[in-house]
Amino acid sequence: MPAPAPSLPDQILARCGLKRCTPSAQPTQGFLNTVHLAEDGAGQKYVLRIGRDENREDIEEYVTRQIKFLGAADLGATLHYRSIPAQAQFMQSLTAAGVNTPHIAGYGEEWMLMHFAEGRGLSTLFAEQPPEEAAKAAAATLGALMDVHKKGICLWDRWGGNELIDNKLNVCFIDFDLRIDFPAQVSSQTQTALDLAFMLRGCLQFSRDADITAAALAGVIGARDDFDHIYDVKSLSRFIDGQIRFYNAEYIENADTPKDAREKHNHENDLMQQLQQKANMHMQMHAAPARTTARKNTPHI
Ligand SMILES: Nc1ncnc2c1ncn2[C@@H]1O[C@H](COP(=O)(O)OP(=O)(O)O)[C@@H](O)[C@H]1O
Ligand SMILES: [Mg+2]
Repeated sequence: MPAPAPSLPDQILARCGLKRCTPSAQPTQGFLNTVHLAEDGAGQKYVLRIGRDENREDIEEYVTRQIKFLGAADLGATLHYRSIPAQAQFMQSLTAAGVNTPHIAGYGEEWMLMHFAEGRGLSTLFAEQPPEEAAKAAAATLGALMDVHKKGICLWDRWGGNELIDNKLNVCFIDFDLRIDFPAQVSSQTQTALDLAFMLRGCLQFSRDADITAAALAGVIGARDDFDHIYDVKSLSRFIDGQIRFYNAEYIENADTPKDAREKHNHENDLMQQLQQKANMHMQMHAAPARTTARKNTPHI
Protein backbone atom coordinates (compact mmCIF):
# COMPACT_ATOMS: atom_id res chain seq x y z
CA MET A 1 0.00 0.00 0.00
CA PRO A 2 1.46 3.45 -0.84
CA ALA A 3 2.24 5.69 2.15
CA PRO A 4 -0.53 8.24 2.80
CA ALA A 5 0.25 11.73 1.46
CA PRO A 6 1.68 14.02 4.18
CA SER A 7 -0.86 16.33 5.80
CA LEU A 8 -0.91 20.04 4.88
CA PRO A 9 1.04 21.08 8.02
CA ASP A 10 3.65 18.36 7.40
CA GLN A 11 4.02 19.49 3.80
CA ILE A 12 4.54 23.12 4.86
CA LEU A 13 6.96 22.18 7.63
CA ALA A 14 8.96 19.97 5.24
CA ARG A 15 9.09 22.80 2.69
CA CYS A 16 10.41 25.15 5.38
CA GLY A 17 13.01 22.58 6.50
CA LEU A 18 11.40 22.17 9.95
CA LYS A 19 10.57 19.17 12.13
CA ARG A 20 7.69 18.81 14.54
CA CYS A 21 8.93 19.31 18.10
CA THR A 22 7.46 16.17 19.59
CA PRO A 23 5.84 13.83 17.13
CA SER A 24 3.34 12.67 19.77
CA ALA A 25 2.21 16.18 20.79
CA GLN A 26 -1.34 16.99 19.77
CA PRO A 27 -1.76 20.22 17.86
CA THR A 28 -3.39 23.04 19.83
CA GLN A 29 -6.77 24.06 18.60
CA GLY A 30 -7.78 27.69 19.05
CA PHE A 31 -11.24 29.01 18.16
CA LEU A 32 -10.13 30.10 14.70
CA ASN A 33 -6.77 28.44 14.10
CA THR A 34 -4.82 25.24 14.64
CA VAL A 35 -1.22 25.56 15.79
CA HIS A 36 1.68 23.13 15.33
CA LEU A 37 4.99 23.42 17.15
CA ALA A 38 8.16 22.79 15.14
CA GLU A 39 11.89 23.46 15.26
CA ASP A 40 14.86 23.82 12.94
CA GLY A 41 18.25 22.12 13.26
CA ALA A 42 19.62 25.03 15.32
CA GLY A 43 17.02 24.70 18.09
CA GLN A 44 14.88 27.70 17.06
CA LYS A 45 11.24 26.92 17.79
CA TYR A 46 8.41 27.91 15.44
CA VAL A 47 4.64 27.88 15.44
CA LEU A 48 2.80 26.98 12.26
CA ARG A 49 -0.68 28.45 12.45
CA ILE A 50 -3.39 27.37 10.02
CA GLY A 51 -6.82 29.02 9.83
CA ARG A 52 -9.97 26.98 10.38
CA ASP A 53 -13.47 27.93 9.36
CA GLU A 54 -15.50 26.74 12.36
CA ASN A 55 -16.74 29.34 14.85
CA ARG A 56 -16.19 32.29 12.51
CA GLU A 57 -19.84 33.26 12.22
CA ASP A 58 -20.53 32.75 15.95
CA ILE A 59 -17.57 34.91 16.95
CA GLU A 60 -18.49 37.58 14.43
CA GLU A 61 -22.05 37.68 15.72
CA TYR A 62 -20.91 37.82 19.38
CA VAL A 63 -18.31 40.57 18.93
CA THR A 64 -20.57 42.61 16.64
CA ARG A 65 -23.25 42.54 19.37
CA GLN A 66 -20.61 43.57 21.91
CA ILE A 67 -19.49 46.53 19.78
CA LYS A 68 -23.12 47.62 19.54
CA PHE A 69 -23.64 47.43 23.31
CA LEU A 70 -20.50 49.44 23.90
CA GLY A 71 -21.80 52.27 21.77
CA ALA A 72 -18.93 51.91 19.28
CA ALA A 73 -21.28 50.94 16.45
CA ASP A 74 -22.90 54.38 16.85
CA LEU A 75 -19.50 55.84 16.03
CA GLY A 76 -19.39 53.75 12.87
CA ALA A 77 -17.19 50.89 14.16
CA THR A 78 -17.40 47.70 12.10
CA LEU A 79 -15.84 44.29 12.72
CA HIS A 80 -13.80 42.45 10.08
CA TYR A 81 -11.72 39.32 9.70
CA ARG A 82 -8.19 39.74 8.42
CA SER A 83 -6.96 37.21 5.87
CA ILE A 84 -3.86 35.26 6.95
CA PRO A 85 -1.57 37.35 4.70
CA ALA A 86 -3.10 40.54 6.17
CA GLN A 87 -2.47 39.21 9.70
CA ALA A 88 1.15 38.38 8.85
CA GLN A 89 1.66 41.84 7.33
CA PHE A 90 0.06 43.50 10.35
CA MET A 91 2.42 41.56 12.64
CA GLN A 92 5.39 42.65 10.52
CA SER A 93 4.26 46.25 10.84
CA LEU A 94 3.95 45.80 14.63
CA THR A 95 7.49 44.41 14.79
CA ALA A 96 8.71 47.40 12.76
CA ALA A 97 6.93 49.73 15.23
CA GLY A 98 8.68 48.06 18.19
CA VAL A 99 5.67 46.09 19.47
CA ASN A 100 6.46 42.68 20.93
CA THR A 101 4.78 40.14 18.65
CA PRO A 102 6.21 36.91 17.16
CA HIS A 103 8.51 37.40 14.17
CA ILE A 104 6.99 36.13 10.94
CA ALA A 105 9.15 33.53 9.19
CA GLY A 106 6.81 32.96 6.23
CA TYR A 107 3.17 32.80 5.20
CA GLY A 108 0.80 31.65 2.49
CA GLU A 109 -2.90 32.15 1.81
CA GLU A 110 -3.93 29.78 4.63
CA TRP A 111 -0.95 29.52 6.97
CA MET A 112 1.69 31.52 8.75
CA LEU A 113 4.95 30.44 10.28
CA MET A 114 6.22 32.48 13.20
CA HIS A 115 8.76 32.29 15.96
CA PHE A 116 7.59 30.56 19.11
CA ALA A 117 6.97 32.96 22.01
CA GLU A 118 7.75 31.78 25.53
CA GLY A 119 5.08 32.47 28.08
CA ARG A 120 1.57 31.57 29.12
CA GLY A 121 -1.71 33.18 28.12
CA LEU A 122 -3.04 35.70 30.63
CA SER A 123 -6.32 33.79 31.09
CA THR A 124 -4.31 30.59 31.76
CA LEU A 125 -2.17 32.40 34.33
CA PHE A 126 -5.31 33.56 36.13
CA ALA A 127 -6.45 29.94 36.35
CA GLU A 128 -3.09 28.51 37.37
CA GLN A 129 -1.26 31.09 39.45
CA PRO A 130 -1.89 32.60 42.89
CA PRO A 131 -4.03 35.75 42.49
CA GLU A 132 -1.15 38.10 43.38
CA GLU A 133 1.10 36.61 40.69
CA ALA A 134 -1.67 36.65 38.09
CA ALA A 135 -2.46 40.26 38.98
CA LYS A 136 1.18 41.19 38.32
CA ALA A 137 0.91 39.57 34.89
CA ALA A 138 -2.34 41.47 34.24
CA ALA A 139 -0.70 44.75 35.27
CA ALA A 140 2.27 44.05 32.98
CA THR A 141 -0.11 43.27 30.12
CA LEU A 142 -2.10 46.46 30.66
CA GLY A 143 1.11 48.50 30.79
CA ALA A 144 2.37 46.87 27.58
CA LEU A 145 -0.95 47.51 25.85
CA MET A 146 -0.88 51.16 26.91
CA ASP A 147 2.59 51.47 25.37
CA VAL A 148 1.18 50.13 22.11
CA HIS A 149 -1.74 52.58 22.32
CA LYS A 150 0.72 55.39 22.91
CA LYS A 151 2.00 54.71 19.40
CA GLY A 152 -1.56 55.18 18.13
CA ILE A 153 -1.92 51.47 17.33
CA CYS A 154 -4.91 49.31 18.30
CA LEU A 155 -4.43 45.54 18.49
CA TRP A 156 -8.06 44.45 18.97
CA ASP A 157 -9.28 41.15 20.40
CA ARG A 158 -7.42 41.67 23.68
CA TRP A 159 -9.49 39.53 25.99
CA GLY A 160 -6.93 37.62 28.07
CA GLY A 161 -6.27 34.74 25.69
CA ASN A 162 -4.10 36.51 23.14
CA GLU A 163 -1.35 37.85 25.37
CA LEU A 164 1.57 35.60 26.29
CA ILE A 165 3.51 36.56 29.43
CA ASP A 166 6.88 34.99 30.29
CA ASN A 167 8.28 34.59 33.78
CA LYS A 168 10.10 37.94 33.51
CA LEU A 169 6.72 39.59 32.78
CA ASN A 170 7.55 40.31 29.14
CA VAL A 171 4.30 40.48 27.19
CA CYS A 172 4.00 39.16 23.65
CA PHE A 173 0.84 39.95 21.68
CA ILE A 174 -0.56 37.29 19.33
CA ASP A 175 -3.68 36.55 17.25
CA PHE A 176 -4.80 39.29 14.89
CA ASP A 177 -7.70 37.61 13.10
CA LEU A 178 -10.08 40.38 14.14
CA ARG A 179 -9.93 44.02 13.25
CA ILE A 180 -12.27 46.89 14.09
CA ASP A 181 -12.51 49.71 11.55
CA PHE A 182 -13.67 53.22 12.40
CA PRO A 183 -14.49 56.07 10.04
CA ALA A 184 -11.52 58.38 9.53
CA GLN A 185 -13.01 61.18 11.65
CA VAL A 186 -13.00 59.03 14.83
CA SER A 187 -9.89 59.95 16.81
CA SER A 188 -7.11 57.52 17.57
CA GLN A 189 -7.77 58.23 21.29
CA THR A 190 -11.36 57.00 20.96
CA GLN A 191 -10.21 53.85 19.18
CA THR A 192 -7.55 53.05 21.77
CA ALA A 193 -10.19 53.57 24.48
CA LEU A 194 -12.26 50.77 22.94
CA ASP A 195 -9.25 48.44 22.79
CA LEU A 196 -8.54 49.25 26.46
CA ALA A 197 -12.15 48.65 27.57
CA PHE A 198 -12.02 45.10 26.15
CA MET A 199 -8.76 44.38 27.96
CA LEU A 200 -9.96 45.69 31.33
CA ARG A 201 -13.08 43.57 31.15
CA GLY A 202 -11.08 40.48 30.15
CA CYS A 203 -8.72 40.91 33.10
CA LEU A 204 -11.54 41.10 35.65
CA GLN A 205 -13.51 38.31 34.06
CA PHE A 206 -10.72 35.75 34.34
CA SER A 207 -9.50 36.81 37.78
CA ARG A 208 -9.97 34.46 40.66
CA ASP A 209 -9.61 37.44 42.97
CA ALA A 210 -10.94 40.45 41.08
CA ASP A 211 -10.17 42.82 44.01
CA ILE A 212 -6.47 42.10 43.78
CA THR A 213 -6.51 42.38 39.99
CA ALA A 214 -8.51 45.63 40.01
CA ALA A 215 -6.05 47.16 42.50
CA ALA A 216 -3.11 46.18 40.28
CA LEU A 217 -4.81 47.59 37.16
CA ALA A 218 -5.77 50.81 38.96
CA GLY A 219 -2.11 51.13 39.97
CA VAL A 220 -1.06 50.98 36.31
CA ILE A 221 -3.69 53.55 35.28
CA GLY A 222 -2.75 55.85 38.19
CA ALA A 223 0.95 55.72 37.29
CA ARG A 224 0.42 56.87 33.70
CA ASP A 225 0.90 60.62 33.36
CA ASP A 226 0.13 60.28 29.66
CA PHE A 227 -3.23 58.53 30.18
CA ASP A 228 -5.45 61.38 28.95
CA HIS A 229 -3.19 61.94 25.95
CA ILE A 230 -3.50 58.31 24.92
CA TYR A 231 -7.22 57.87 25.58
CA ASP A 232 -10.43 59.75 25.01
CA VAL A 233 -11.55 59.21 28.58
CA LYS A 234 -15.15 60.26 27.97
CA SER A 235 -15.49 57.53 25.36
CA LEU A 236 -13.66 55.10 27.65
CA SER A 237 -16.33 55.73 30.30
CA ARG A 238 -19.04 55.04 27.78
CA PHE A 239 -17.35 51.86 26.53
CA ILE A 240 -16.92 50.52 30.05
CA ASP A 241 -20.59 51.22 30.78
CA GLY A 242 -21.36 49.32 27.60
CA GLN A 243 -19.20 46.37 28.67
CA ILE A 244 -21.09 46.19 31.95
CA ARG A 245 -24.44 46.24 30.15
CA PHE A 246 -23.23 43.66 27.64
CA TYR A 247 -22.12 41.17 30.26
CA ASN A 248 -25.30 41.81 32.23
CA ALA A 249 -27.28 40.85 29.16
CA GLU A 250 -25.07 37.81 28.63
CA TYR A 251 -25.05 36.46 32.16
CA ILE A 252 -27.33 38.20 34.61
CA GLU A 253 -30.50 38.06 32.57
CA ASN A 254 -29.79 34.44 31.78
CA ALA A 255 -31.89 32.42 34.22
CA ASP A 256 -29.46 29.49 33.87
CA THR A 257 -26.58 31.45 35.37
CA PRO A 258 -25.94 30.13 38.91
CA LYS A 259 -26.42 32.58 41.78
CA ASP A 260 -22.76 32.59 42.84
CA ALA A 261 -21.70 33.37 39.25
CA ARG A 262 -24.18 36.27 39.19
CA GLU A 263 -22.79 37.57 42.48
CA LYS A 264 -19.21 37.32 41.22
CA HIS A 265 -20.29 39.14 38.13
CA ASN A 266 -21.98 41.95 40.07
CA HIS A 267 -18.80 42.33 42.06
CA GLU A 268 -16.75 42.54 38.86
CA ASN A 269 -19.13 45.22 37.59
CA ASP A 270 -18.52 47.27 40.74
CA LEU A 271 -14.79 46.97 40.22
CA MET A 272 -15.15 47.86 36.57
CA GLN A 273 -16.96 51.04 37.61
CA GLN A 274 -14.21 51.84 40.10
CA LEU A 275 -11.60 51.44 37.38
CA GLN A 276 -13.66 53.73 35.22
CA GLN A 277 -13.77 56.36 37.97
CA LYS A 278 -10.04 55.96 38.49
CA ALA A 279 -9.48 56.67 34.81
CA ASN A 280 -11.78 59.72 34.94
CA MET A 281 -10.11 61.06 38.05
CA HIS A 282 -6.75 60.52 36.47
CA MET A 283 -7.79 62.63 33.53
CA GLN A 284 -9.05 65.46 35.73
CA MET A 285 -5.92 65.40 37.90
CA HIS A 286 -3.51 65.47 35.00
CA ALA A 287 -5.32 67.57 32.42
CA ALA A 288 -5.42 70.81 34.48
CA PRO A 289 -1.75 71.08 35.60
CA ALA A 290 -0.56 70.15 32.12
CA ARG A 291 -2.37 73.17 30.67
CA THR A 292 -1.13 75.51 33.44
CA THR A 293 2.47 74.46 32.82
CA ALA A 294 2.11 75.03 29.10
CA ARG A 295 0.77 78.54 29.73
CA LYS A 296 3.53 79.36 32.24
CA ASN A 297 6.17 78.37 29.74
CA THR A 298 4.72 80.53 27.01
CA PRO A 299 6.88 83.68 26.72
CA HIS A 300 5.03 87.02 27.10
CA ILE A 301 4.77 89.06 23.98
N1 LIG B 1 3.91 32.45 18.32
C1 LIG B 1 3.38 31.69 19.28
N2 LIG B 1 4.15 31.24 20.30
C2 LIG B 1 3.64 30.46 21.27
N3 LIG B 1 2.36 30.04 21.31
C3 LIG B 1 1.53 30.45 20.32
C4 LIG B 1 1.98 31.30 19.27
N4 LIG B 1 0.94 31.54 18.43
C5 LIG B 1 -0.10 30.87 18.96
N5 LIG B 1 0.22 30.22 20.10
C6 LIG B 1 -0.65 29.37 20.94
O1 LIG B 1 -1.73 28.90 20.16
C7 LIG B 1 -3.00 29.36 20.68
C8 LIG B 1 -3.94 29.68 19.53
O2 LIG B 1 -3.37 30.67 18.70
P1 LIG B 1 -4.15 32.01 18.30
O3 LIG B 1 -3.28 32.75 17.37
O4 LIG B 1 -4.58 32.73 19.53
O5 LIG B 1 -5.39 31.43 17.49
P2 LIG B 1 -7.00 31.53 17.72
O6 LIG B 1 -7.44 32.62 16.80
O7 LIG B 1 -7.51 30.22 17.29
O8 LIG B 1 -7.24 31.86 19.16
C9 LIG B 1 -2.62 30.57 21.53
O9 LIG B 1 -3.56 30.81 22.54
C10 LIG B 1 -1.27 30.16 22.08
O10 LIG B 1 -1.41 29.29 23.18
MG1 LIG C 1 -6.47 33.36 20.25
